[in-house]
Amino acid sequence: MEKAPSDRSGTCLIAGCGYTGVRLARRRLSEGPVLALVRRTASAEDLTRQGIPALAMDFDQAALAGPWHPPSDLSTLVYLAPPSGAGTEDLRLARFLGALGSARPEAFVYISTTGVYGDTGGAPVDEDSPTAPRDDRSRRRLDAERRVTRWCLDRAMRCVVFRVPAIYGPHRLPLDRLRCGEPVLRAEDSGPGNRIHVDDLVSACLAALERPVAGVFNLTDGLPESMAAFTARVASLAGLPAPPQIPWVEAQEVLSPGLLSFLRESRRVTSRRTGELGWTPWYADPGAGIRASLAEMGLAIPQ
Ligand SMILES: NC(=O)c1ccc[n+]([C@@H]2O[C@H](COP(=O)([O-])OP(=O)(O)OC[C@H]3O[C@@H](n4cnc5c(N)ncnc54)[C@H](OP(=O)(O)O)[C@@H]3O)[C@@H](O)[C@H]2O)c1
Repeated sequence: MEKAPSDRSGTCLIAGCGYTGVRLARRRLSEGPVLALVRRTASAEDLTRQGIPALAMDFDQAALAGPWHPPSDLSTLVYLAPPSGAGTEDLRLARFLGALGSARPEAFVYISTTGVYGDTGGAPVDEDSPTAPRDDRSRRRLDAERRVTRWCLDRAMRCVVFRVPAIYGPHRLPLDRLRCGEPVLRAEDSGPGNRIHVDDLVSACLAALERPVAGVFNLTDGLPESMAAFTARVASLAGLPAPPQIPWVEAQEVLSPGLLSFLRESRRVTSRRTGELGWTPWYADPGAGIRASLAEMGLAIPQ
């Protein structure tokens, strides 16, 4: 079925307008109206000060379906809020979908994670690979993907799910950990992982709003490497000492549970489908992405 590209004159709703959402909002605002939704009043006030129209709305509150009405000219929706904090279902998203009532935007873009593929021991995954979430966090993601897909199907709407690996960019580099001398799991004990620069993710979102595409897409840079290799690369480009590398047995003593859970999974993310989006990562090489991020933070050092 051929689907029309999005109506740029209608409002683009950005639900969960945090790190990625703000950069998306800034770019989308040059083309048409945007409304950002965030959890906290302070975040909404901060966005408004930056010229991004915003509302505070906690999707975890049961009263959500109350007085709020989506914009009457709603044309597209990008959902970037993380899933609820426990269980295997994303009830946060379910509540948000309920609050949309009879709204029927032209396109819904949902940002998921490559965690839904589980651990492949470093083997490649593409969009046709089976999902095999290993923990409840990834099960909630898969639940969210399914809910959004079903919601859109029921309304004959275009639905795009982006599975993304770790997002990095300005102010999202492990600089504080490097400055503290925090160790990293040594490369031989950790498998390869992928990343995506935040501005590449934003470009993919804009492409998905414009192009008549639907379904699941993996988004990633072009160079899978271990966290140890990526962190050492950041250190070198930022002029900081390389982090000490430690074996798995020691890592279990000193690294945070969240980081350890992340390190337990490894896969090489590939895509068969990004050609349909007309998207390739600008920062295919993480070195270029790190340099650009440091430059934006005023931390570039002459090489
Ligand atoms: N960071 C990564 O490496 C990574 C990797 C893969 C996928 N992802 C996923 O990609 C998406 C975007 O990531 P990001 O780093 O840009 O996110 P982020 O900076 O953490 O922003 C999340 C946004 O969601 C809002 N939010 C959180 N809980 C909410 C609730 N109960 N009700 C309403 N809004 C709520 C937050 O509002 P407040 O600011 O007011 O709290 C914030 O605006 C997220 O789903 C994230 O899990 C992230």
